[in-house]
Amino acid sequence: MKILVTGVAGFIGSNLAQALLDKSHQVVGLDNMSQGNKFNMAGFDNHPDFSMHFEDVRDLAALIRTGEGCDVIVHLAAYKIPRYSDALDTLTINAAGSENVARAAVEHGCKVVAASTSDVYGKNPDIPFTEESNLVMGAPTVKRWAYAISKMFEEQLLFAYHERFGIDVVMLRFFGGYGPNQNLTWWGGPQSVFINSALDGEPLTVHGDGQQTRSFTYVSDHVNGIIASVEKPAANNLVFNLGQTREITIADLGRLIWRLVRGEDNEPKIDFIPYETFGKYEDVQRRLPDVNRARDILGVSPRVDIEEGLRKTILWQVARRREMGISTPDPVL
Ligand SMILES: NC(=O)c1ccc[n+]([C@@H]2O[C@H](COP(=O)([O-])OP(=O)(O)OC[C@H]3O[C@@H](n4cnc5c(N)ncnc54)[C@H](O)[C@@H]3O)[C@@H](O)[C@H]2O)c1
Repeated sequence: MKILVTGVAGFIGSNLAQALLDKSHQVVGLDNMSQGNKFNMAGFDNHPDFSMHFEDVRDLAALIRTGEGCDVIVHLAAYKIPRYSDALDTLTINAAGSENVARAAVEHGCKVVAASTSDVYGKNPDIPFTEESNLVMGAPTVKRWAYAISKMFEEQLLFAYHERFGIDVVMLRFFGGYGPNQNLTWWGGPQSVFINSALDGEPLTVHGDGQQTRSFTYVSDHVNGIIASVEKPAANNLVFNLGQTREITIADLGRLIWRLVRGEDNEPKIDFIPYETFGKYEDVQRRLPDVNRARDILGVSPRVDIEEGLRKTILWQVARRREMGISTPDPVL
């Protein structure tokens, strides 16, 4: 198949592009490099079945041009949760990007596989979340919900395009991805920052009391779910949770990373940062997916356990830091 991947220079996009090329698909990449990284594309940017377009998903004409002849658009380009700025980019980039992808898909009669997020379950306390669970958002004065709302809009919009124009759409709700090519800042998630802090021997910074849980998912498990969604017609016009089913508190994640990087006997110093530091903020206390639908229809289940995944990620992060000229000790692992 010929597949347009938006956000190809980002974390999931670059891992996906490599895996699609390994499966002999043709990949057309699109990214405006706002968060993407050329290092992420180093493994495939010269591949004969890969072409790259430095474009913005807000540009409809560019999307229509790059989507020419494609069978599927995998839409990953998005702007994540703003912690230290306002929510306007999140709302406008994600809404405009989704609509332009849908319009390009109608133009070319191709299928759309779009990235949603576990964050859409919001404050729903009933775990594990199935795809039919309620999506429970907080007040609009808490900008933290802007990201989830932009993804809920994307889901509704793509289903509306399916209904009116007949294009096939698949929505993937990713749960906490980590692995090679992850962004090294908070943009990439707490594990990125904890690994950096542990390598530098500095205190770990935890938001809130650290008792909030997440289900961290190694990137190959996300990529397998995306590829199954691209290839299998049975996935069409459904929503899927893609995530690990092991819940871990953020504080325990920090301790695990510290142990893997610095050795068994060491306990990390943890600086707890109150949520008030981010203005009016609300966090999600527990997050755990029910992944039966992905197992039954996509034929995928999470395979990589968190310790194994973190070992690979730490080794990758050590190499990436050295590539960037950052002095980095060998991890204990
Ligand atoms: N990584 C996760 O754990 C996770 C969890 C839930 C949802 N998601 C979703 O999955 C998708 C991929 O996430 P990721 O972690 O790889 O993010 P990422 O930030 O690493 O990658 C996103 C890419 O999109 C590009 N981009 C942003 N705005 C753009 C624009 N206007 N035009 C063109 N390109 C643009 C960025 O430059 C970046 O390369 C996103 O939609 C994200 O919301 C990811």
